[in-house]
Amino acid sequence: PAIHRADYQAPAWWIDTVDLTFDLDPAKTRVLNKMRLRRNPDVAAQPLRLDGEELNLARVMVNGGGTSFKMEGNQLVLENLPEGTEPFDLEIFTTCAPAKNTQLMGLYVSQGTFFTQCEAEGFRRITYFLDRPDVMASYTVTLRADKALYPVLLSNGNLVDSGAMEDGRHFAKWVDPHKKPCYLFALVAGKLVAREQKIRSRSGTEHLLQVYVRPGDLGKTEHAMNSLMHSVAWDEARFGLPLDLERFMIVATSDFNMGAMENKGLNIFNTKYVLASEATATDTDFGNIESVVGHEYFHNWTGNRVTCRDWFQLSLKEGLTVFRDQEFSQDLAGSPSARAVKRIEDVRVLRTAQFPEDAGPMAHPVRPDSYIEINNFYTVTIYEKGAEVVRMMHTLVGREGFAKGMKLYFERHDGQAVTCDDFAQAIADANPTSDLARLLPQFKRWYSQAGTPRVQATGQYDAAARSYTLTLTQSCAPTPGQSTKEPFVIPVELGLLSASGAALPLQMAGESAAGAASRTVVLTEPTQTLTFVQVDAEPVPSLLRNFSAPVVLDIDYTDAQLLTLLAHDADAFNRWEAGQRLALRTAINAIADSAYATSASGIFDHQVLGADFVEAMRSVLRNPALDAAFKELVLTLPSETYIAEQLDVVDPQRIHAVREAMREQLALALQTDWERAWEQNQDTGGYRPDPVSSGRRALSGLALHMLCIAARRTGDVVWPGKAYQRFKVAANMTDRFNALTALVASGSELAAPALARFHALFKDEPLVIDKWFALQAGAPDRGGNVLPAVRQLMQHPDFSLKNPNRARSVIFSYCSANPGAFHRADAAGYVFWSDRVIELDAINPQVAARLARALDRWKKLAEPWRSGAREAIARVAARPDLSNDVREVVTRALAD
Ligand code: ARG
Ligand code: ZN
Repeated sequence: PAIHRADYQAPAWWIDTVDLTFDLDPAKTRVLNKMRLRRNPDVAAQPLRLDGEELNLARVMVNGGGTSFKMEGNQLVLENLPEGTEPFDLEIFTTCAPAKNTQLMGLYVSQGTFFTQCEAEGFRRITYFLDRPDVMASYTVTLRADKALYPVLLSNGNLVDSGAMEDGRHFAKWVDPHKKPCYLFALVAGKLVAREQKIRSRSGTEHLLQVYVRPGDLGKTEHAMNSLMHSVAWDEARFGLPLDLERFMIVATSDFNMGAMENKGLNIFNTKYVLASEATATDTDFGNIESVVGHEYFHNWTGNRVTCRDWFQLSLKEGLTVFRDQEFSQDLAGSPSARAVKRIEDVRVLRTAQFPEDAGPMAHPVRPDSYIEINNFYTVTIYEKGAEVVRMMHTLVGREGFAKGMKLYFERHDGQAVTCDDFAQAIADANPTSDLARLLPQFKRWYSQAGTPRVQATGQYDAAARSYTLTLTQSCAPTPGQSTKEPFVIPVELGLLSASGAALPLQMAGESAAGAASRTVVLTEPTQTLTFVQVDAEPVPSLLRNFSAPVVLDIDYTDAQLLTLLAHDADAFNRWEAGQRLALRTAINAIADSAYATSASGIFDHQVLGADFVEAMRSVLRNPALDAAFKELVLTLPSETYIAEQLDVVDPQRIHAVREAMREQLALALQTDWERAWEQNQDTGGYRPDPVSSGRRALSGLALHMLCIAARRTGDVVWPGKAYQRFKVAANMTDRFNALTALVASGSELAAPALARFHALFKDEPLVIDKWFALQAGAPDRGGNVLPAVRQLMQHPDFSLKNPNRARSVIFSYCSANPGAFHRADAAGYVFWSDRVIELDAINPQVAARLARALDRWKKLAEPWRSGAREAIARVAARPDLSNDVREVVTRALAD
């Protein structure tokens, strides 16, 4: 049963206040829900239909007396409610079973503590309600529970009362001063401790910040608290948005479907995005914590103060909030180089995860037109592509203009549930002379049209006229349900370089003087030409600088041009991109070249890296002017997934073999440089997760990895020995895990003892044990050994399918992140996948549906993989008892 955006209707009823009383008990929690409702006079009179799921209904009362009601599917329907627009009281008493809630939606128990997750439609699993984001109410919540088992009782807003009750129970009463949609409701009850911090905002108001964790974890909360303080300060400084609560709480749980949730004043987080110490968390973890804490905090305005009218508008809050957290991380990173590194990392996620989504069976617009299960639409398209759409608006109106637009957005819509149109309109209206305002209806095609546009660029140099003409042609392939696409508004930031790499001032035909060396051109037509004058010699174009639009840029660079860009482009993103293009070209040519056979055991043993490429990589590695973090990005080859996306027919084994060969060649050719990089980038002094020192660790880690790969070829035992030594004595998890990864990935004999030692060291640290599982499930395949190893890991006493982090660490690491091991010619990987999807679906449909997406791109596969994958998907689809979540994914995968 699909839901369509066009069918939106305002609610026929408003719920003004909600008074909830919980008697918390894992087996049977009693929920008394007293609401004050009134008819919405703007909508034709109709019965009240309240959503509910897996609830036991005990009592319904209207204005203190009995009333008639009926059930229609999952809805509680009340037909005989008071006439007129006067408010009335509706009281509903239900029970639910949190301990049995393995879906982790609604009220559930994790390690003896109660948590909630209500977005998108989890509140209906707690009580009957109008579970839609445009119904906003004031909440009063009383929690009652055993005091010894649940000493801490939290909900949204302010604590107004608490005390003891008889039988060892106690209560706490919370009042949220802000109206909110029910998806932002939260409660937590359990044995928790908090790190606390008082802060004063610019206006002088005091706030209490708290980070709640299990008692042993308090020592791992400093970074999360610092990130929260930075977030509060940043939103006030950059957007003038202050904290609007006396008390802001973060609570961590080990059992969580996603990253975190922005419940008003009571954010609930996956422990993965809260807990960090240098001994247990990597630099990447520290960075992720900073950005997720920021993300959830920024939702307080973009999401909570202004929320979504309906779930089709999800990107209104998610795309905008991802944009904000990306900017936050860039601003904290500081230097232009560190900003560029963050930008490259973000674009890498977009291109390896969102572009495939946009080209596959689950492709959908940033503002979808229909869905079956909303949980399937918490996607990289809604989040990351949505953020790129906001970023393009930022580009079109400028930084100041965007801040003005945000201000107008809140002036107009504070306290409302609105649409993506409302947001775009506010940004445009605040900048009436901008390109965005001029092109708004066309710009909004980014919201309505799915698919990744391609921009094809060709350059023509006219020596006689000293002019250079760029022809830019845009197109977009059909996506499911959208056979033709209209042209997009595409901002292209560009510059021209001389053959020797100098930046050329730009002067376009008709302009009287040369201007800056970089500018943004806005494409709107299917084809446009740009003519630059006063150009002395054929230039090298640098297009789509800083990845100014989420498009594929097709351009026929010569190797020499790419080498010039890699060595000299003023735009760091395009320097990196030039290196990626060189590597990609080599990979694609090698994959296609039938003269290069792979051995019976699947090894590709042909020299494919050209001397120019190797020397260019060497100069990057040696360049003292470049940051280590940037070098690490340049020296990392495009991923197998990204390479696969460039091909029409995918032989995953060949891609894997070629990429492995390229990596080994790079390892061998640059051996002495890797040694130097390792030595020169050792930590000095204490651990700090800042961009400079984490960049140094990343580069020395890559160097160690490459040296171990080279050692496998040369028979050298020194570097694996050094890696083992580093693994043993490392002072932080980043260095330790990099060393362990180098041993595992290079197939060293020292990998097994190191893995055993690692487990023994960290057996009481679940997040580290997740890494231990993930590393093994993601290990390179040697003669088909990974699948049996994964089956073995699932038998390990520490494994549990019910814990999403653990399930992801083993199953997703194998099925989604290890293509060389997963895509077996015997289809055993696919059979394993289908078994796990079915098994997980009975426990947690949301997690199962994520896993189901691992075969999204099956139609691109060559035989025999294609048939094997289709059979596996069909096997899942044949199950009669699938959740909506998985059903939607496999149905779309099989559709033509
Ligand atoms: N709003 C949350 C975030 O972006 C994500 C929650 C999604 N949860 C879900 N069950 N689909 O931070
Ligand atoms: Zn979010």
